[in-house]
Amino acid sequence: MGADMFHLAWFFSKGFGPKAWKHRWHGSDVARFTKPDTGVFLAQAMERAGFDYFMIEDSSNVPYTYQGSHNAYLRHSVDTPKLDPAVLAPFLIEATTNLGIVVTCSTTEYQPFMLARLFNTLDHVSDGRIGWNVVTGSNDGGAQNYNRDRQWPHDERYDMADEFMEVCRGLWSGWDDDALVLDLENGIFADGDKVHPIDHEGKYYKVRGPLSAPPMPQRSPVICQAGGSGRGHRFAGQWAETVITAATDPADMKRQREAIRQHAADAGRDPDGVKVLFLVSPIIDETTELALARHNASVEIDDNEVQYQLASLSRQSGIDFSQFALDEPLPERLVSNGHQSMVAKWEGRVLGDIIRGNVLSPGSKSFVGTPDHVAGYMDEVMQEVGGDGFLFVNSYFPRRYVTEICDGLVPELQRRGLTRTAYEHEHFRDNLMAF
Ligand SMILES: Cc1cc2nc3c(=O)[nH]c(=O)nc-3n(C[C@H](O)[C@H](O)[C@H](O)COP(=O)(O)O)c2cc1C
Repeated sequence: MGADMFHLAWFFSKGFGPKAWKHRWHGSDVARFTKPDTGVFLAQAMERAGFDYFMIEDSSNVPYTYQGSHNAYLRHSVDTPKLDPAVLAPFLIEATTNLGIVVTCSTTEYQPFMLARLFNTLDHVSDGRIGWNVVTGSNDGGAQNYNRDRQWPHDERYDMADEFMEVCRGLWSGWDDDALVLDLENGIFADGDKVHPIDHEGKYYKVRGPLSAPPMPQRSPVICQAGGSGRGHRFAGQWAETVITAATDPADMKRQREAIRQHAADAGRDPDGVKVLFLVSPIIDETTELALARHNASVEIDDNEVQYQLASLSRQSGIDFSQFALDEPLPERLVSNGHQSMVAKWEGRVLGDIIRGNVLSPGSKSFVGTPDHVAGYMDEVMQEVGGDGFLFVNSYFPRRYVTEICDGLVPELQRRGLTRTAYEHEHFRDNLMAF
């Protein structure tokens, strides 16, 4: 493997739900968003291009933070509707042989036993290709479907997630590797002495165990994480094997990556065991002019887009942004029990600018152009940052976008020796840690 190689992944933003439904290239039948075909099409293209993983985003409630109503969310399809990502995963698994599949599940919605069992099963049926994006929940509407009025306080959610992870780890290692005997002659299926209850009694969870299935091929799913707050970074340092994050420029990428690596070292881990991937939304076309024209068209914002963005910001932060004027600075102090690192970046800024920035970011102009130009820029960025790769995101992609990235941009990266042309290993983790 070349010293400068980096990893590629795709953030399936808006989860198992509609993609480019009002786009000129939306495909033949918008109502098919409830079927796995768009995900399968993307997964197969990604595998052809040697990607590490397909990350299925998720949130499960119909939000109502903006204007205290779910109407804007449903009208514009802002983070809803969404079907269950754990049900999409087996279709992606069946359609591919090497690609890693990362499923988002929240530690405040699942019970540890249920989650440990689900991922054990997914890893078995995928022959070792499953990852878990560990999220802790954000808005109160999410909590209200799970027996509570509000989310737990932000930092406490991470404390709970630490214990959740410990329970899962215990369950995933509860069967010795040779516990499954399958001795037909003597009639022994499994050896009970090699299967261990965990008898966990902690502050938040009480779980006896053991799990009712043998160890999974990877022993545990690849742990993916996206928390950007100090507490979130500490959690990532302790547990994450890949961190996905948005950054404003290469200097910010470098700073974030170093902070995450330092947290891993502080937790006694090898920093190379955490691959930090940065969100990017390149716009590729045959000429620079064509790509720039598409970029310029994509940042023209109409009233629908403004309302879409305000509803989205409201959901993620739990703050109703309909109360603020678009052309005035936001208050210097915004209190969020949701995505804190994001909200901190908005304080004191003009709301309209944040929206325009959101539409632009992370498709900064440097990632707009011919495959040759964008591949060259990605190379430069990675050299400056030090690693570890990129996570493509485009919430409204039509199928044509998949082809432009996977069959246009990535072959150029491969030609330069920057990304893999073939999978070396059978398991997701081994491929992720290979360079
Ligand atoms: C790239 C990216 C993807 C994320 N995906 C999800 C997701 O699928 N579901 C979810 O509930 N939160 C998701 N989040 C939110 C994070 O899990 C986390 O809650 C958020 O970044 C706030 O963490 P912080 O308060 O530590 O900054 C994502 C965040 C980022 C940056």
